[in-house]
Amino acid sequence: MAELLCGLERTNKCGELSAKNVGESVTIMGWVHRRRDLGGLIFLQLRDVSGISQVVFDTDFCSQQLIEKASTLKLEYVVAVQGTVRMRTGNNVNHNMKTGEIEVVALDMKVLSEAETTPFSIGDESANEQLRLKYRYLDLRREKIQQNLIVRSKVCQVVRNYLSENGFLEIETPFLGRSTPEGARDYLVPSRIHEGAFYALPQSPQLYKQLLMIGGLDRYFQIVKCFRDEDLRANRQPEFTQIDIEMSFVDQEDQLMTIIEGLVKKIFKEVKDIDLENTFMRLPYSEAMDRFGSDKPDLRYGMELIDVANAVAGSGFVVFENALNAGGAVKAIVAKGACDNFSRKELDKLVDYVKTYKAKGLAWYGLGKDGVKSSFAKAMTAESLKKLEEAVGLEQGDIMFVVADACYDTAVVSLGALRCHLAEKLGLIEDGKYAILWVVDFPLLEWSEEDNRWCAKHHPFTSPKNEDLPLLTTDPGKARAKAYDIVINGDEMGGGSMRIYNSQVQQLMFETLGFTQEQIKQRFGFFVDAFKYGTPPHGGLAFGLDRMVMTLTGTTNIKEVIAFPKIQNASCLMTEAPAPVEQAQLDELAIAIAAKEEK
Ligand code: AMO
Repeated sequence: MAELLCGLERTNKCGELSAKNVGESVTIMGWVHRRRDLGGLIFLQLRDVSGISQVVFDTDFCSQQLIEKASTLKLEYVVAVQGTVRMRTGNNVNHNMKTGEIEVVALDMKVLSEAETTPFSIGDESANEQLRLKYRYLDLRREKIQQNLIVRSKVCQVVRNYLSENGFLEIETPFLGRSTPEGARDYLVPSRIHEGAFYALPQSPQLYKQLLMIGGLDRYFQIVKCFRDEDLRANRQPEFTQIDIEMSFVDQEDQLMTIIEGLVKKIFKEVKDIDLENTFMRLPYSEAMDRFGSDKPDLRYGMELIDVANAVAGSGFVVFENALNAGGAVKAIVAKGACDNFSRKELDKLVDYVKTYKAKGLAWYGLGKDGVKSSFAKAMTAESLKKLEEAVGLEQGDIMFVVADACYDTAVVSLGALRCHLAEKLGLIEDGKYAILWVVDFPLLEWSEEDNRWCAKHHPFTSPKNEDLPLLTTDPGKARAKAYDIVINGDEMGGGSMRIYNSQVQQLMFETLGFTQEQIKQRFGFFVDAFKYGTPPHGGLAFGLDRMVMTLTGTTNIKEVIAFPKIQNASCLMTEAPAPVEQAQLDELAIAIAAKEEK
């Protein structure tokens, strides 16, 4: 049986003791991380959220009885140790440990709580992830994950301070609401009182924050959970957190972007002590696609896409010529000095890689130490090959990769993906580097084959660029939006837009999206009505907090920055949510579960 706390009071955290505390009498509390028993001498590593301290039980300083008690301690017991801090000497000094200069000589020790053998050893990242998530409370004892959550907390604190200082009010918006038009599937909550009716958990507080602006609150922010029932990936969770921001009396992107840049700089300074450059680069969407094949380009390395249409026109190679004749594109990237890095087998793998991005194939041409290595040189005239080499600036040792496609987007997107893939493979990404930019001037609309109509690329309340307004009636696909994303190291950190604040423009937008008056009234009635009573020009943005913390901690798995994450199939291994409920609960909600057909 664990003994009671017995009036012991913690004086210090384990990881905070240093040479400054030498000679002090301290009481530390934590988990037994390691125990080494050398007979009359026992070394204990005691761990709490701040780190680890070494404790020594030595018969010169404590009773034989205490030594015996210490020798029964097992890993993960929670104990309190009272003792004196002293310098370690000789080989005992551990330079790899924050508190490695000192140790606590135990005078007394109390077991606060015993522990059974844990299903995996604490801190073992190689332990099966499913098992770690089932016992997440044990996995949370891992130093790396605690550090990530500390960074997360710090980011929230900086956000609150910075935005409050800049006149933003922190305001909560409902979780039980109506479906918002963000594009993913909603999580629905059945209403007991209104049989057959459902609330939708917000995909984002988009409509509410705009209504707050109409309500005259001027500047709003919220660190808020959002819910999207979409396919999960390494950087997506069904419930995730946004730093959601909206401000009034701005209609130029510039004003808002300046405030947001200030916030990002502050976060990097406070959390990582990094001074970011003064103004973030702004890259129009069309240029981002053309040069990097991505609307979230990673600018930590070069290897830009080069248009080789002129060089290959009339080259005799049908694959390139057909793509051009069909109005498509032929684009190339060059991996400098890497020609001999790729075996034939590896090149074939790269072909398969671009095919997952819908490319029909990948052509390569390199100048290796054994001469030309190419998948298409034989099909082209020598003159065209020369032209192509010149167009991309190919030098001895380099290899170029070319994608030709009748569809421009397929050509650039697949080659853009290959660019990222190769950068990783060839080790072109500098450790600790941050490349931040805004991608601006997104298309306002995108064509949905499924629905056979235009859809809003961001959302239906995003303002078209003033000069592109007439395009809504003539050539909607060409209209650009006052929309922007903030991109860090190739990840979309946040996105936002200036909003439409003129009822007629909003009406035109809805019409372009193919909504009937009935549909507008039914889906957005309350929102459209609100705009009739005086709407300030306004705009905003939302950061993905989880993604921001991933970037700051250098983690590629979103689960590592969330205390209780869900797995790929949107379930929680620890609580086993979602789970069936009692029939009585269903009856109360007037819900019957339809039997699923056996597949
Ligand atoms: P958007 O849909 O672009 O914009 O979302 C903003 C940011 O939220 C993050 N994010 C996610 N993070 C983890 N898991 C997910 N499933 C997930 N989905 C999105 C991304 C993204 O950049 N209402 C608008 C913002 C606005 O216009 O003000 C919105 O929600 O980092």
